[in-house]
Amino acid sequence: MSSKENMESKSALLIGASGLVGGHCLLQLLEEPSYTQVIVLVRRPLPVIHEKLVQQISDFDELESLGKCPPVDDVYCCLGTTIKKSGTQEAFRKVDFDYPVKLAALTQHCGANQFLLISSMGANPHSRIFYNRVKGEVEEAIRKISFKAFHIFRPSLLLGKRVEHRPGEQVGAVAMTALKYAMIGPFRTYRAILAKDVAQAMVRVAQMDRTGVNIYDSQSIQKIADGADTRHQVE
Ligand SMILES: NC(=O)c1ccc[n+]([C@@H]2O[C@H](COP(=O)([O-])OP(=O)(O)OC[C@H]3O[C@@H](n4cnc5c(N)ncnc54)[C@H](OP(=O)(O)O)[C@@H]3O)[C@@H](O)[C@H]2O)c1
Repeated sequence: MSSKENMESKSALLIGASGLVGGHCLLQLLEEPSYTQVIVLVRRPLPVIHEKLVQQISDFDELESLGKCPPVDDVYCCLGTTIKKSGTQEAFRKVDFDYPVKLAALTQHCGANQFLLISSMGANPHSRIFYNRVKGEVEEAIRKISFKAFHIFRPSLLLGKRVEHRPGEQVGAVAMTALKYAMIGPFRTYRAILAKDVAQAMVRVAQMDRTGVNIYDSQSIQKIADGADTRHQVE
């Protein structure tokens, strides 16, 4: 494991770096002075060159055979798919449950301190909605792995430029943007949120030295991204 004693030279491992939140997360991790190394596990090389960046081309079905322990302090999981893209519930579950849990077990075994997971608003292991149930189950499974700190981010609809066309989300984004200022009080947390802000909140939280299981709803994520640290659920 890298320099745990010297928290000014941490290393981060990111999966999902080619995605919407993951792409922003990567840029912010490279800018964050406390990280001297940022390792990304990717299926295809990213067009990014940076002195801190190490790209490891990986088959996510073979995460256990990464070889030696990845030398990381903080693990960022921005992985995810959709049922439409993956084709079946089983294939969805593999990406949104199996891979994150395997990664968590491996990195915790190797000494990582913090695991930061993008889950979703509505995550609940008992939900009747498949997506929400898988998100709740992945949170539960990683909780049992006992990191020094486990941070769960539950954003609402993500806003940002995608290469991929997702008509449902685009309609949702237009509606949510139009309704933004009508969503006040307890409805504030349903406001759509910029993927960039979610990434920023993740990187900020990892520098706060929090311990235990910490859950951030969309409103808390927004406040952290805005620079106003906030109450959040600690378990
Ligand atoms: N969309 C929303 O409004 C919304 C709202 C709340 C929460 N979330 C959650 O937020 C997280 C991040 O969402 P996002 O929109 O940023 O994701 P995204 O843009 O779809 O990116 C997904 C990432 O996962 C990787 N991935 C997908 N399938 C894979 C596979 N079979 N093997 C290896 N890697 C795979 C992709 O890599 P490749 O480039 O190699 O495919 C990509 O890096 C997800 O967990 C999502 O469920 C989304």
